[in-house]
Amino acid sequence: MQHEKYGNVVRVAPDELSYMTTDGWRDIYGETPAAKYGMKRSDDIFAYFFDKQSTEAIIVSANEEGHSRLRKIFSWAFSKPALTAQEPPITEKVGLLIQNLKQAQSVGKVASSAPSQRSNPFDFVVKQGRTFHRYREGKYPLPNDFREQERLDFQHYFMLTLLDGKLHLAPIGENPQNVLDIGTGTGIWAVEFADRYPSANVIGTDLSPIQPDFVPKNCFFEIDDAEDEWLFNERFDYIHMRAMMTCFADPRSILQKAYNQLAPGGYLEMQDGRFPLQCHDDTLQGTALDRWAKACVEAGEVTGRAWNNAKFYKQWMEEIGFEVIQEKVFEIPTSDWPKGKKAKELGLWFHEDLMDSLSGSKVLLTKTLGYKEDEVELLLMEVRKNLKDRGVHAYMPV
Ligand SMILES: C[S@@+](CC[C@H](N)C(=O)[O-])C[C@H]1O[C@@H](n2cnc3c(N)ncnc32)[C@H](O)[C@@H]1O
Repeated sequence: MQHEKYGNVVRVAPDELSYMTTDGWRDIYGETPAAKYGMKRSDDIFAYFFDKQSTEAIIVSANEEGHSRLRKIFSWAFSKPALTAQEPPITEKVGLLIQNLKQAQSVGKVASSAPSQRSNPFDFVVKQGRTFHRYREGKYPLPNDFREQERLDFQHYFMLTLLDGKLHLAPIGENPQNVLDIGTGTGIWAVEFADRYPSANVIGTDLSPIQPDFVPKNCFFEIDDAEDEWLFNERFDYIHMRAMMTCFADPRSILQKAYNQLAPGGYLEMQDGRFPLQCHDDTLQGTALDRWAKACVEAGEVTGRAWNNAKFYKQWMEEIGFEVIQEKVFEIPTSDWPKGKKAKELGLWFHEDLMDSLSGSKVLLTKTLGYKEDEVELLLMEVRKNLKDRGVHAYMPV
């Protein structure tokens, strides 16, 4: 649709272009010298070399088939060590690409559908061996590297298990039109939703540019801060936010923005857990696990981004004026300690999720609460033991 409106090249997000035809590539890259370098140039593959002698190249392809062919040929370059080694030059080249793009945009060759970026979103911040978002640096406390992305994708399947395979609980019907996923993370929910509902135009927004390149054609990603004024042109039938605890300084105002952005009869669905962990007996009391979860809550109080917002969603929705509000609360065990097949399965999923998130919390505890690094390591060692102990009957309300 955007191509029909704007032409061959559309910027669908600050870091993402959509190309409709090979002419679109030429608009940006010009004629390419690929043949000179022994590359076959066809309608679906172009290669852009920075200079004759250089072994560095940006490989571009005009369609998915061409891209996966090139990925195979250059598979050695996508190994983890190779990617790590290439990160600085890639970041530099991406900067150049964005610069070229801006030039092309200034002469009307590229249409932009996303607000302009004030900093290079590819430029991640590295702290204690993990990477964090650079755009609006410091707002969100957890990392955004591959390890965290895997955790988020894992968490997605865990949430699907909780909801018996459903992507949503709101009764949105079979033909949703405009759908918004705030804080989309790796975009896994948005992609699956777009596949499941071809009628829908799905927009996913996030502070981190960690969404995939190849997505259904009705799915778009934008780098955007949900705490800014919402500038969407459309009103949405359905707005989705999942796992957004500790994201917002004023979460009630985000619910208000969602309310204002809904089409008449539209739905907002929040799927969120909350900290600290809970327990129906006294087995959590005095454990490192309890201390860790409470320390996260305390750090959230210091940064002004609470970990227990989900407790207030219903009340805020009532105050804002939402109609027909339904709240469902599930108890997710921290391991397979409870009885029952589904509870055990959820416990195992959540156990892995928590284990993975421990390292991601280190920066928060050291930088915000002033813990020493080795102090946190010791605490986390004990937390891991508690998590493995089926005698600790902790759960998180979701
Ligand atoms: C725990 S992840 C959840 C990701 C996704 N919703 C899911 O369920 O898979 C929280 C996400 O919210 C994003 N986020 C945090 N603060 C944000 C903000 N102010 N605006 C947009 N996204 C934000 C983070 O970058 C992160 O990707």
